[in-house]
Amino acid sequence: MTIPYLHLKSLQARFKDQDAQSLQAIQESGQFIGGDFVTTFENSFASYCGVHHAVGTGNGLDALTLILLAEKQLGNLTEHAKILLPAHTYIATFLSVIHAGMQPIPVDVSDLTISVPDLENHTNGIDAIVVVDIYGKLVDDEVYAFAKAKQLPIYCDTAQSHGARNSSGKRSGSLARASAFSFYPTKNLGALGDGGAVTSDDSELASMVRKLANYGRESRFVNSVIGMNSRLDPLQASFLSSRLQQLDADYQCRYDIARSYVNGIKNELVTVPEPSFFEHNAIHVFPVFVEHRDRFVTYMNRCGIGTNCHYPVAPHSQEALSFLNHLSFSNTEKFHRTEVSIPCHPLLSSDEVQYVIHSINNYE
Ligand SMILES: Cc1ncc(COP(=O)(O)O)c(C=O)c1O
Repeated sequence: MTIPYLHLKSLQARFKDQDAQSLQAIQESGQFIGGDFVTTFENSFASYCGVHHAVGTGNGLDALTLILLAEKQLGNLTEHAKILLPAHTYIATFLSVIHAGMQPIPVDVSDLTISVPDLENHTNGIDAIVVVDIYGKLVDDEVYAFAKAKQLPIYCDTAQSHGARNSSGKRSGSLARASAFSFYPTKNLGALGDGGAVTSDDSELASMVRKLANYGRESRFVNSVIGMNSRLDPLQASFLSSRLQQLDADYQCRYDIARSYVNGIKNELVTVPEPSFFEHNAIHVFPVFVEHRDRFVTYMNRCGIGTNCHYPVAPHSQEALSFLNHLSFSNTEKFHRTEVSIPCHPLLSSDEVQYVIHSINNYE
């Protein structure tokens, strides 16, 4: 049996007919930038997330950068502001802070997502917090309550957590002052190219993000702030509108697979996340942790099973962020040294899931 890590082509091919209709509709409309297709998606995504505003952007990195830049324009954050963020994330979270002219202040995580004890002794001199729903797992509600009590603005990198709900049923994208989504093709809500969105309940912040993403344009020939060009493409917006209808059904498949893995994988060499990992989680990535990762990945390849890694090198250890290379975060580094992502997507058959479990259980 051969099981690739992700059947991306087949996953996207489910929308072939709707995509052809989207293309035709856009060709006929003549609206190639902005317009109704973008507005329709923004409105349905805002309502899906349970917020007043969604603003399409060119990608997820820009979405987070634009939130911080907008806060600077509004006077809520300053140039060089100190932004607390988890060391365990994809480099994009760090880059957005840097692109916004601010300082990333990473902290180690005791579990996969950041928790209150991780933040507690690190808020002196901090201007804001950016949290990350890594692998799709929502950051605990207590973290938002902690930020509120400390009067620190909190933003969320929701690039991986589309559709996840917290214990009160509130969705990813509605929990922070503003959230940044990515619609990179492999995401649970993925386009056929780059795309992103900012969600927020704050009208002023959402308007500023929209303005900054469109050259800082006040009106056609009036530019009131220094902006950039990072707009959601109408074609991608239309593709996303079709895919949004499928997101909850896809989640159910991911959840069932993840449960099978948790119940079925029994090998002391392979650590599976705690059952609590599956609560309030979009299950974008199913991680297992293995001491001798290369050996395990080679074994899985021999079994015909594709794997991935999220991520082999932590941001603070990247050459690009050399000013952070002196830092050390033992938990984060352990995750980055031992993590292996195994196949977990809506097109996996139950035979394939059982084969993955059987193969992992026979690893020695
Ligand atoms: C946690 C996280 N943040 C931000 C991003 C950036 O998204 P994009 O690739 O759309 O710029 C990603 C994308 O992989 C991500 O995983």
